[in-house]
Amino acid sequence: MIQLDNVTLTFPDGDSRITAVDHVSLIAHPGTVTAITGPSGSGKSSLLAVAATLIRPDSGRVLIDDLDAARLDAKEASDLRRDSVGIVFQQSNLLPSLTAREQLTVMNELGRRGSRGRRKAAATRADELLDAVGLGDHRDKRPHQLSGGQRQRVNIARALMNDPSVMLVDEPTSALDQERGAQIIDLILRLTDELDTSTLLVTHDLVHLPRMHAVVHLVDGRLTSSVGESGELAFA
Ligand SMILES: Nc1ncnc2c1ncn2[C@@H]1O[C@H](COP(=O)(O)OP(=O)(O)OP(=O)(O)O)[C@@H](O)[C@H]1O
Ligand SMILES: [Mg+2]
Repeated sequence: MIQLDNVTLTFPDGDSRITAVDHVSLIAHPGTVTAITGPSGSGKSSLLAVAATLIRPDSGRVLIDDLDAARLDAKEASDLRRDSVGIVFQQSNLLPSLTAREQLTVMNELGRRGSRGRRKAAATRADELLDAVGLGDHRDKRPHQLSGGQRQRVNIARALMNDPSVMLVDEPTSALDQERGAQIIDLILRLTDELDTSTLLVTHDLVHLPRMHAVVHLVDGRLTSSVGESGELAFA
């Protein structure tokens, strides 16, 4: 579960500050995808960065599985991020020299002492996830040998390596054509269901919204509307 409670985030802008996220509250439950929409510059990526605990908000709270991220020290916050949050960024950031499988297994090395048992478990998990995203036959390819859609699948699989309870995805379809974009959305909906993640998905692509469990709309950092699972207006 992830909950944002009255979150405000500002950035310095010359002599003053710009408000990227303005008193936003939202909650996403396991097994559901909440879409975040809004014009360019409306604060979608900023909101995701706060949800990922990558940026601390000026005010408000971020609760991940009932832990208040603001109350954690830097080490605890990075442990929480590694163990509980899977992030797929707007720009694909695969490492050029690694194979698809290595992009995933390297996640296991981050900030932990390796052991043979753990390495083996990581390799098994990587293979399972590559199968789940339909890339079982491409596990030994490097990013330049993969299509844009395949690279995005590796990105998604990598985000799920540590079995996170929260999945945060920023514009996964922006570089893809309609059909491949729809496949990526299908994949995110399916993995959210199978792995029971609480998923926030930033998207410009309005055609996919009817399939989401909830949709929120941002304008100038403010939540202007929010539609819940049963279609009612969930935002007051
Ligand atoms: N690191 C930063 N420093 C200063 N201003 C920033 C920073 N990051 C974002 N902003 C500003 O915050 C506002 C929200 O930006 P954000 O990237 O969250 O928008 P977005 O909705 O994701 O846009 P897009 O759809 O183009 O990706 C913008 O006005 C942007 O210029
Ligand atoms: Mg953005």
